[in-house]
Amino acid sequence: MIVTIDGVAASGKSSVSSGVAQALGVPYVSSGLLYRAVTLLGLEAGADLAQPGALLPLLSGVRLEPLASGNRVWNAVHDLTADLHSTRVDTGVSVVAALPEIREWVDAQLRALPAPLVAEGRDMGTNVFPHAPHKFYLTASPRVRAERRARERPEDIPAIEAALTERDRQDTTQSAPAPDARIIDTGPLTLQGVIDTILEHLR
Ligand code: ADP
Ligand code: CDP
Repeated sequence: MIVTIDGVAASGKSSVSSGVAQALGVPYVSSGLLYRAVTLLGLEAGADLAQPGALLPLLSGVRLEPLASGNRVWNAVHDLTADLHSTRVDTGVSVVAALPEIREWVDAQLRALPAPLVAEGRDMGTNVFPHAPHKFYLTASPRVRAERRARERPEDIPAIEAALTERDRQDTTQSAPAPDARIIDTGPLTLQGVIDTILEHLR
């Protein structure tokens, strides 16, 4: 069984997926972490983030470890995870995610993982796992999402809201909900409330 949980930036995808996956006793995978890892490695190498030919050679050692407590991304023996949520990665990641060659590489990593699993991102229900029987799409207003993310970033709420809105715009192509996804506005719900809503639909 595969459950897909897509949604806009900071809508709660990874926290909700982790909670749902732990309740089901299955792993979850965070596809955004792979796009973030490509971006980080590109920035560290001084590569042009719009050039797939400069990025693909950096990826041979990259591996996603889908731990239930929180996914980790490795480059050979180096754990990249702690550096994937910086503002500079936030700013560059949508350029990388627009590259078809990089999307193919990420999709191949995800499709190689054994089911059952919970997969979260933007296009899990539309593109990577279109036959998944259970699909969800999380939303919340830009202000609510910025207030949540402000607890994890040094910038103030208006700056974060502007950056989230810009990233939503850049991600529009791959972010449409699947026609068969259940849309959940997480704004009025607690994190546990969103997890429980999904678990109820799965029962
Ligand atoms: P995403 O993976 O979509 O970027 P996260 O799971 O990282 O979102 O959530 C962003 C932040 O919002 C986290 O600090 C998380 O704990 C918090 N959060 C997620 N969902 C809710 C919710 N329904 N109510 C309150 N806070 C939430
Ligand atoms: O957590 P947040 O929503 O801020 O970001 P993320 O899920 O880690 O995704 C980071 C970026 O990766 C997004 O802004 C998209 O550009 C890209 N992404 C994508 O294109 N497709 C996915 N399935 C997942 C992420």
